[in-house]
Amino acid sequence: HPRTSGNPGTSAGAGDAVDLMDFELMRDPFRGYARLRERAPLVRGTFFGRGTPIWLVTRYADVKTVLGDPRFVNDPANVPGMDVGDIRERELAARGIPEEYAPYILDSVLDADGADHLRLRRLVSRTFTARRVLELRPRVQEITESLLDRLEGLGRHGAVDLMEHFAYPLPITVICELVGIPEQDRPQWREWGKALVALEAGGMAGALRDMVEHIHTLIERRRAAPTADLLTGLIRTHDEGGDRLGDTEMVTLVLTLVLAGHETTAHLIGNGVAALLTHPEQLALLRGDPGLMPRAVHELMRWCGPVQGTRLRYAAEDVEIGGMPVRKGEAVMAVLVGGNYDPRVFDDPERLDVTREPDGRRETHVGFGHGLHYCLGAALARQEAEVAFAGLLRRFPGMALAVAAEDLERQPMPGSWRLARLPLHL
Ligand code: HEM
Repeated sequence: HPRTSGNPGTSAGAGDAVDLMDFELMRDPFRGYARLRERAPLVRGTFFGRGTPIWLVTRYADVKTVLGDPRFVNDPANVPGMDVGDIRERELAARGIPEEYAPYILDSVLDADGADHLRLRRLVSRTFTARRVLELRPRVQEITESLLDRLEGLGRHGAVDLMEHFAYPLPITVICELVGIPEQDRPQWREWGKALVALEAGGMAGALRDMVEHIHTLIERRRAAPTADLLTGLIRTHDEGGDRLGDTEMVTLVLTLVLAGHETTAHLIGNGVAALLTHPEQLALLRGDPGLMPRAVHELMRWCGPVQGTRLRYAAEDVEIGGMPVRKGEAVMAVLVGGNYDPRVFDDPERLDVTREPDGRRETHVGFGHGLHYCLGAALARQEAEVAFAGLLRRFPGMALAVAAEDLERQPMPGSWRLARLPLHL
């Protein structure tokens, strides 16, 4: 990773809060969170130094506790006696979302706990099982090949931005096909996704309104003419009354899947390609043994996964983490990159090693989260990354960065690790 000489974490005294928007922390979250991890199990964090501080949890074992212990909940309404209206209002205000659109953003599967969560997750989980994902592989390969064809043409005229022309189009095409979003609408979804990420107050509300309207229209069209997609499946569940899945819930679910299913995967592809190109010895290992690919993708998720911190969790009662107290109602962020670089679990964690042995059935890293909210699309995302890397390596054996590694520009987003662009000579 491009490093800077900044020294986040240590500049603040043991009791001081760390600003998650701190420029140096965003520039080098790997070292920044490592310093916090060695300072204490819990460190106070703020956004812009304002608002109620949250707890940052950076040690691997503690990250798993926060994500796996039912005493931590995602919906603050499940904290007995908590005034939730206040939290909701602040979140809406911060993102410029009118109250009427709140459910679409604040009541997703990620915001639910217990039986509510299981119910929502069950509705879509069958689509994302390892077997169903494997059945999709030939189609993912086909989409990849056609994108590579286009890329080859573009590459003849000079440097190409891999994010724009490959890393984004691949996952958005896959998830839209799966869900049932028509081809002509996909470029629009890409723009909406960007608007949401930019968190531009006015722009965001507009994008949200358009997306919601768009999905409502699609639902009406599928009701009239059912197909084999996920949307049709949800409508059937809804209309047959097998589950009281409301229209709003259906729209929220679709919105969550499309948004969660493409931005993150696009950035795993971008980060992964940049990592391999700046580690030629690792790239050579992978070229020499394509069978290493699944393991390499696990390692790239650990080393440069696009999600570095989870959604906030709330303590439903007083809890201890690493011997330090978290009071009922306090918010905690599990810092995934802290866990993924914890030397208590990973030897020489800063070293990228595509031959690193994952431990157990699931990968050892926590880049896809942990516990009940473990990423629903992990198998799909891994498969897309495997197919993407394999295709790029095969088609463009001489591919190289078109800028110096230090000049790769990152999107300044706390909790995320994203390239703004990835210019390559193919
Ligand atoms: C949840 C990461 C791709 C759908 C999560 C969580 C993480 C994550 C860390 C847990 C968040 C938390 O506990 O607060 C990633 C990464 C991806 C990726 C790094 C790509 C490299 C996908 C894809 C889909 C998807 C392709 C869509 C099909 C979801 C959903 C949840 C989730 C629906 C919420 C699950 C729940 O609350 O039960 N993801 N994800 N993700 N992800 Fe992913």
